[in-house]
Amino acid sequence: MQIVIAASECVPFAKTGGLADVVGTLPPELAKLGHEVTVYLPFYLQARQRLQGELNYAIRSLTIPFRYYNRFAGIVDGGKRGGVQYYFVDCPELYDRPELYGPRGGEYGDNAERFGLFCRAVVEAAKQLGVPQVFHLHDWQTALIPVYLRTVYAADPALLGAGTVLTIHNAGYQGWFPPATTEQLLFPWEIFTMDRLEQYDRFDFLKGGVVYSDMLTTVSRKYAEEIQTAEFGNGLEDVFRRRAADLRGILNGVDYSRWNPETDRHLAAHFNAGDLAGKRECRKDLLHAFGLGAVEENVPVIAIVSRFAAQKGIDLMAQVADALASRDVAVVVLGSGDPYYENFFRSWVFRHPGNVAARLSYDEALAHKAEAGADMFLMPSRYEPCGLNQIYSLRYGTVPVVRATGGLDDTVEEWNAETSTGTGFKFLNYSSEDLLAAVDRGLEAFRNQDGWVRLMRNGMAQHYGWEKPARQYAEVYEEVAQKRA
Ligand code: ADP
Ligand code: GLC
Repeated sequence: MQIVIAASECVPFAKTGGLADVVGTLPPELAKLGHEVTVYLPFYLQARQRLQGELNYAIRSLTIPFRYYNRFAGIVDGGKRGGVQYYFVDCPELYDRPELYGPRGGEYGDNAERFGLFCRAVVEAAKQLGVPQVFHLHDWQTALIPVYLRTVYAADPALLGAGTVLTIHNAGYQGWFPPATTEQLLFPWEIFTMDRLEQYDRFDFLKGGVVYSDMLTTVSRKYAEEIQTAEFGNGLEDVFRRRAADLRGILNGVDYSRWNPETDRHLAAHFNAGDLAGKRECRKDLLHAFGLGAVEENVPVIAIVSRFAAQKGIDLMAQVADALASRDVAVVVLGSGDPYYENFFRSWVFRHPGNVAARLSYDEALAHKAEAGADMFLMPSRYEPCGLNQIYSLRYGTVPVVRATGGLDDTVEEWNAETSTGTGFKFLNYSSEDLLAAVDRGLEAFRNQDGWVRLMRNGMAQHYGWEKPARQYAEVYEEVAQKRA
């Protein structure tokens, strides 16, 4: 099948979170299955730096109309990698900026225009470079593609057979803009109603995608259920319920060629389930990198690697911060985002300089070192559509302590010392007591090193490769093609 994947992030070109990992890995896996896959991305500054050299334009200029003016977008040919064709939508005045979405976890004021243009440019480019059987879209930034296809392009004979799948990686980000966005992006006003794109007097990109796509997926089974409830639907629960028959939960895979303790190029030493000696080295290296070299040998190390956003449960961490640091543990934190949370981590380090350390930045190498060198990985998310870090942790023998939500619940099983089964520690209620109790169960288990090694090995034996999810997506594409036939 011919598949066009459009997204706002993709490794190695542009990344702020797990979306980039997924969009970087799924397409080559689909290509391996024999599909013809094309990926469209905005030509951000990050991507421009990555490509370097002479740019090759597949299309020199597309005219993208807005209400009172036109913009002009080129399509840069990024060539083929791993059997996948990459194209970039080039519009320097919109994308040639230091950040993908806005400064310090915030938003650029013209994001409606930036991603509105991206959506329309992908449709126009596909008309010249190849209309696929299925457009596979990801999150709010690309959610207007199905809306364009079924409204202003509905009569276009070139696009008639094209179906759409929208994958929701995070219903907490919907792309909310003023009602006038409808006109600015040249949609008819009739789509601005509560059963289509309006959400309480806001123009809602994601809602449009949910209403107009042929099929929907989320990135875990549990999250597909959760978003149909008021706690997790972020106001779209009714729309998700209406589309429940077309909604699938497909758990993300991870890229074991990049996240494998036997080969990871960022590590001081390598290890695997059979030979764990290298993990000791990695622990030393990690503590050293965080300036905690003085922490004693048998003290458990807890790692946190996260975007600093409300989703990640940082308010819960703040509530238990002092109690946790007063236990016999070392804590290393790597992350960036909301300045409010960055300040919390600064103050935590300030109060416990001997055993809490933080790097408030984005650092790929350090993220790998943290996965490898820690004993436990803490992820108390308020909600987590899938979560990749806990899956990386499992492979690195770093025991996840997680809240039982979304993909965290689907990938971590509570340790049972009696039967020696399970892979980590989970708590259900979003409460600081329950979080601390889960950490304490972990610390208790850590005291019995034989049991602990068994627990680590249980996790290391888990396999979350891309083979299965790629097949599941291919099945969804088939369903879409049948609907459109
Ligand atoms: P989300 O996409 O919600 O942020 P995921 O767990 O799906 O959560 O993915 C996060 C990805 O971003 C992982 O690959 C993780 O290693 C990476 N990451 C997050 N914060 C940092 C950071 N400060 N430095 C390096 N990598 C990070
Ligand atoms: C989103 C979610 C995260 C998921 C990632 C990739 O960023 O927050 O849970 O793993 O997308 O699907």
